[in-house]
Amino acid sequence: MKFVDMTPTDFPSFENKPLNPNLCEPRKVNFQFNNIPKHWLNNSSVLTHYFNAMNLFLPAFEAFMVRVMRNELPRIKNTELEAPIRGFIKQEATHGQTHHKYNKILEAQGYKFKTILKIADFFFTEVLEKYLSPKMCLALISGFENIATVFSYIILKSNMLATANPTMRSLWEWHTAEEIEHSGLAFKFLNHVDNHYWVRILGGLLGTLMPIAALVVGMALLIMQDQSLTNQKTFDDLRKFLFTEYKFLPLTVKHMASYFKLEFNPKSEDLYQYGEKVFSHS
Ligand SMILES: [Fe+2]
Ligand SMILES: [Fe+2]
Repeated sequence: MKFVDMTPTDFPSFENKPLNPNLCEPRKVNFQFNNIPKHWLNNSSVLTHYFNAMNLFLPAFEAFMVRVMRNELPRIKNTELEAPIRGFIKQEATHGQTHHKYNKILEAQGYKFKTILKIADFFFTEVLEKYLSPKMCLALISGFENIATVFSYIILKSNMLATANPTMRSLWEWHTAEEIEHSGLAFKFLNHVDNHYWVRILGGLLGTLMPIAALVVGMALLIMQDQSLTNQKTFDDLRKFLFTEYKFLPLTVKHMASYFKLEFNPKSEDLYQYGEKVFSHS
């Protein structure tokens, strides 16, 4: 696969380090967000803003995960989790910084979202981190990561980015492949600290509802600013995205439901092939 926006480095948009779930080392990135069209995926407001809406909130979600997990690192010191969790934290920090950079492009394209991002930051720092216990924050993170893994699997398996703007394709393939690489780790971290079923379920419920709410709000906000919220094409694209072509809604429900079973055990090995494919480009 060829990447655009080549710059004078020894790698294109991201370093092609092979998948290694035992270490989850972060990859160097070099995304040049030049000339990104407003609707960079299939010329569709719905498909583009599904990804853009995630982009809006990812810096806040990922910064929260990084802060909580860094603070809780002493709990897994000298265990087999320490090395991959350290890598995981670095991967999430890089994701957040990169999506923050892309949010500047969305701003330059004329989209307005500063207030909603301030509310999101406030919610994480002044509400969740102040009022939830560290173990409940870890349970929340485990829930976020479960839905991130499911989204990443659906995106990579369906090849829905095949016709995207090359830089954006590269951005989302890199991020989703690293989500696959570190999938299951947040659950293991939580399990090491607290393995009560109700803690996982409570965190899992909140950790599922929050990203979905952010996604719905973000998509509505961006599609509204395109003035296409009530267009027929928007409805058609939404139907294709959710139910007919990509089946995003039934697939999400199907794949995330197992997280709520008593005997849940993440089956990350089954997913690695999708991440390996991304990191085997030359
Ligand atoms: Fe991430
Ligand atoms: Fe993640």
